[in-house]
Amino acid sequence: EVYNPSGKYRVISTKSMPGTRWINLLIEQDCRVEICTQKKTILSVEDIIALIGNKCDGVIGQLTEDWGETLFSALSRAGGTAFSNMAVGYNNVDVNAATKYGVAVGNTPGVLTETTAELAASLSLAAARRIVEADEFMRAGLYDGWLPHLFVGNLLKGQTVGVIGAGRIGSAYARMMFLKANGEQPVTWKRASSMEEVLREADVISLHPILDKTTYHLVNKESLSKMKKEAILINCSRGPVVDEVALVEHLKENPMFRVGLDVFEDEPYMKPGLADMKNAIVVPHIASASKWTREGMATLAALNVLGKIKGYPVWSDPNR
Ligand code: DGY
Repeated sequence: EVYNPSGKYRVISTKSMPGTRWINLLIEQDCRVEICTQKKTILSVEDIIALIGNKCDGVIGQLTEDWGETLFSALSRAGGTAFSNMAVGYNNVDVNAATKYGVAVGNTPGVLTETTAELAASLSLAAARRIVEADEFMRAGLYDGWLPHLFVGNLLKGQTVGVIGAGRIGSAYARMMFLKANGEQPVTWKRASSMEEVLREADVISLHPILDKTTYHLVNKESLSKMKKEAILINCSRGPVVDEVALVEHLKENPMFRVGLDVFEDEPYMKPGLADMKNAIVVPHIASASKWTREGMATLAALNVLGKIKGYPVWSDPNR
């Protein structure tokens, strides 16, 4: 799909993105916009090299793509100087390689903060009240009358919520959980001095760190064993922050422990056994999936690329 074919600057988006504002912004600034129409969900490095071709000024890419040496050198050979991930996370981008090849990198913080925090809060409540299990039960035609023990879950009022990675999203999540019940009887938000304290004391733990070497498998067999037996763990950050094999074991051994997962170690796959666990809610990496946010992410990504091409500041540079 090509917009403004005679535009001076060739900008590629590896995926179709919501809204038209991002396309119009690029067109207004003399860009030819090419949107990849490949049906495949995840593009390989080879697919993207073919897209870049011999002349490309900038690329808007996705978190499912491996932006390392190979792609940045291909982009630079094609005269490209700008790349933006359409995501706040950029663990799929080798920023050093980009710098080596003279390519500026952008990401899309801010516009997804509240949307992502809302999903984390939704998963927390859904896990506490076993909403997904109860929904499956109804649809299976198993409900034959009210019972005192039916789907008894946890009351969050008065419980302790722990946030690991209290940056923009983690803090917004904490604020939302704190304001539950109109702030009437807030849940306690622990800004604990140590992760140990969060693991030990929190009834709900939500993970919001970035993924890097220091946070890989931050939640593992050992940390899981320190959590309360009836704790709820939420992950809307990146899958590898949690050792998913250890998590499946923990869920099997502790039926009252619950998780809400938006991200997985080897997306799009789940580790064996996870899909069978009644005490797990799993959704397909949709934390930022509100219309307003996704359009905002696309717009920011376009502004990042435009900034570099036209010599304005890159809107959002993760190095800043
Ligand atoms: C991100 O932006 O990093 C999310 O994972 C997708 O919105």
